[in-house]
Amino acid sequence: MFNFFGKKSTNLKSSEIINNAPIAEDYNDATPIALHFKQETGVTFENQHSILKSKLISFCKIRHIPSFKQCLVQVKNDPILKQELINYLTTNESYFYREFHQIQDLVNAIRAIEHTVDILCAPSSTGEEIYSIAIALLEAGIPKSQFNLVGIDINTEALNLAKSGIYNQRNINNIPGHLLNKYFIKKEFKYHLIDEIKQCVHLKTENIFSSSFKTIGQFDFIFCRNMLIYFDKDTKIQAKSILDNLLKDRNKPVYYGHADLF
Ligand SMILES: C[S@@+](CC[C@H](N)C(=O)[O-])C[C@H]1O[C@@H](n2cnc3c(N)ncnc32)[C@H](O)[C@@H]1O
Repeated sequence: MFNFFGKKSTNLKSSEIINNAPIAEDYNDATPIALHFKQETGVTFENQHSILKSKLISFCKIRHIPSFKQCLVQVKNDPILKQELINYLTTNESYFYREFHQIQDLVNAIRAIEHTVDILCAPSSTGEEIYSIAIALLEAGIPKSQFNLVGIDINTEALNLAKSGIYNQRNINNIPGHLLNKYFIKKEFKYHLIDEIKQCVHLKTENIFSSSFKTIGQFDFIFCRNMLIYFDKDTKIQAKSILDNLLKDRNKPVYYGHADLF
């Protein structure tokens, strides 16, 4: 099916192209998209409406989508466009050895355990956090066979970057120099993580609110840092309950970031 711009529109029902006629440009009310986005991902733009609006105008214009109304119809019907919007609107800022004391705490806890431990990093974004955990565990003498590290994120572009393991200077600033030399190869201005570390983790696209996430497995430790800051209070509580259900032992901690206040 082709829309009135002659562009192929996947999964778009003809009844949803309003009156089958060109729609006048209308980028006025971003609220329905904001509500839909929150319902799907948990991410709220409640106090950032003008930022959201200007981002959405760019998103629509680049794709020749003439109105927010039309955008919402397409996002609901086209999984590729939906993923593009998710990739565009989620914030993936991360860096190695961020709030490292929590990772150190995890390492100390694992030192006292003899069996293989399952660790979930949700969200893992571009990989810096989960790879920091892998490096810290190996540095503590905990062999690769003793941990299973699973990382998830809703943003597929972030996960692809994580899988590439290629980072900029600003991502690696916190790593002690000897570890940088040991685990990265510098090529021109980029830092390439060595395969040994990349092979320590399993990365998967997941939305923490999806039904598949609820059955992703059971974990000894969960890291959930710097995601709840994008959720409102009710959604934070909902996310916490989902994560608690993935813990093998409810007495073990879920590590949240300092900004993820409930
Ligand atoms: C700022 S990053 C945090 C990365 C890492 N945990 C850290 O602290 O450095 C926030 C991540 O949350 C992800 N995210 C937001 N909503 C999500 C959801 N519903 N399910 C899974 N990931 C989500 C975003 O895609 C983004 O990569």
